[in-house]
Amino acid sequence: MSKLWGGRFTKQTDKLVEEYTASITFDKELAEEDVRGSLAHVAMLGKQGILPAEDVQTIEGGLKRVLERIRAGELDYSVSDEDIHMNIEKALIEDIGPVGGKLHTGRSRNDQVATDMHLYLRTRVVEFVGLLRGLQEALVGQARENLDTIVPGYTHLQRAQPILFAHHLMAYVSMFGRDIERLQDSYKRIDTLPLGAGALAGTTFPIDRHFVAEQLGFGRVYENSLDAVSDRDFILEFLSHASIIMMHLSRLSEELILWSSTEFRFVELDDAFCTGSSIMPQKKNPDVPELVRGKTGRVYGNLVGLLTVLKSLPLAYNKDMQEDKEGMFDTVKTLSGALRLFAPMIATMKVNKGQMREAVNKDFSNATDIADFLVGKGLPFRQAHEVIGKTVLYCIENGKFLLDLSIEEFRQFSELFDESIYDVLQPETVVNARNVYGGTARPQVEAAIGRAEAALAET
Ligand code: ARG
Repeated sequence: MSKLWGGRFTKQTDKLVEEYTASITFDKELAEEDVRGSLAHVAMLGKQGILPAEDVQTIEGGLKRVLERIRAGELDYSVSDEDIHMNIEKALIEDIGPVGGKLHTGRSRNDQVATDMHLYLRTRVVEFVGLLRGLQEALVGQARENLDTIVPGYTHLQRAQPILFAHHLMAYVSMFGRDIERLQDSYKRIDTLPLGAGALAGTTFPIDRHFVAEQLGFGRVYENSLDAVSDRDFILEFLSHASIIMMHLSRLSEELILWSSTEFRFVELDDAFCTGSSIMPQKKNPDVPELVRGKTGRVYGNLVGLLTVLKSLPLAYNKDMQEDKEGMFDTVKTLSGALRLFAPMIATMKVNKGQMREAVNKDFSNATDIADFLVGKGLPFRQAHEVIGKTVLYCIENGKFLLDLSIEEFRQFSELFDESIYDVLQPETVVNARNVYGGTARPQVEAAIGRAEAALAET
């Protein structure tokens, strides 16, 4: 059969042009959405009396059979039919005859493809919220197990103040919580129907866009037909949100990689999530977090790629816009792969509590607290800072930590020190002293875990 748009042409399309302009190799991913959109469209054409009920029935039956063949992998896509929309329409016409040609009444591929993309992302966004919740659950589970695990907290990757390991994990729960909120916020814009915009200006047929919206479960309809077919903001938003999620995952990846090094030995990833070296028998490499860290780049690339495609693009549809798809599919695949692996990897991760404790015992991360102790005794904070700086220097020069100093040694630096300093310096005391909402004290972290568990149980 010839081209669906062949009428005004006197020559065959150049083979290279066909190949270059076709999108079927990747937009076949939209087959389900395309058929769903067509079913709603044809039902509306029937309801509005634009097509007789009999034709509508024939087309519906044909579309369902085409979908069955697609699902069974039996439909042979052809590059000469360019894209998923025309491949499906061609298959429909082959199945039911020329009446299949009535499906495209009052519609353009421009509003059709936009509708497919909205349908596609609407489902994906819901799936991603579920995957993020799964990861939060794994993190909260580990946090609950580590309510008594104290670990150095870092700034500048230098030990700063001791914190609960649970508190550190719960920071990621908050980060992924914002990611969930962002996806949910974007939902209402994805949940807007472009169909009915026609090629750009609307259509001469008395269609009912709100009926189609209802059929497809869309909350809203685009207000402006040019905007409806030109808008790819909803994809950009998704790519931005995916980039931020990957950025979060890459930060966690980096920490997992560091923590599982011999230098830290804070955690051990389960064997099932690591790989070995072909030459060094002792190696157990954290490939999954490394690859997630690396793949963050391609997700950013997909965002910047589409931003650049859309820059300066005149209204309405331009073929450039076909470039919105591969990056989006790639981001969906990359992000879901990462999230699907991260949840079980976190859940099965072994936490080396002893090693974390050892690290806390051998550092000066309790120094702020003796400064605060002196402030409690009336010394201005700046002077206290100076005194403790000198005390720490003394320790370093003498190979000691603060808890190793005798009271006489402490008193060399300030008369205000007394025996109670030894309790103040205990890591538990230091952690529990930060008893502010959102702080690392055990009761605060336990409450935060409780809130997160309740929120996760709600859905
Ligand atoms: N394959 C096209 C795309 O993905 C569908 C829309 C084509 N519209 C057109 N007027 N050529 O963008």
